[in-house]
Amino acid sequence: MDKNDLLPIGDLARRTGLAVSAIRFYEDKGLIAPYRTMGNQRRFLRSDIRRLSFILIAQKLGLGLAEIEAQLAALPQGRTPTLADWQKLSRSMRSQIDKKIALLSLTRRKLDECIGCGCLSLTRCQLYNRDDRAGTGGTGPRFVLD
Ligand code: FES
Repeated sequence: MDKNDLLPIGDLARRTGLAVSAIRFYEDKGLIAPYRTMGNQRRFLRSDIRRLSFILIAQKLGLGLAEIEAQLAALPQGRTPTLADWQKLSRSMRSQIDKKIALLSLTRRKLDECIGCGCLSLTRCQLYNRDDRAGTGGTGPRFVLD
């Protein structure tokens, strides 16, 4: 292993924008695993920047820590994941991402229309949700979350 591939925690924090305490938290959770130098200092693989970046993206997508842990658990520890490793993770997340894209697209289309929530507060609710018939199908904004 080239020692240039090993970075101190400060470099990871600077590049990812994460606080050192947050990186230590993910280390404690086993999401990243540092090496120890002869002087017992932590050194991280440069490729851990991508793991931490994945965590940042997944959080923006609304994934919880348990889901993120499950996804990262598919990656090998102690070596730089290959493209094939990341492709495997990407495939396992695809349906989740597709669902989020579909919800975002539907929300963008529907937010200035009747969303079937039962409020009947828009003129077009009379057209699309007369007498709140959407409510017979369940709770919440049926035209977006159904
Ligand atoms: S927007 Fe609420 S029922 Fe139409």
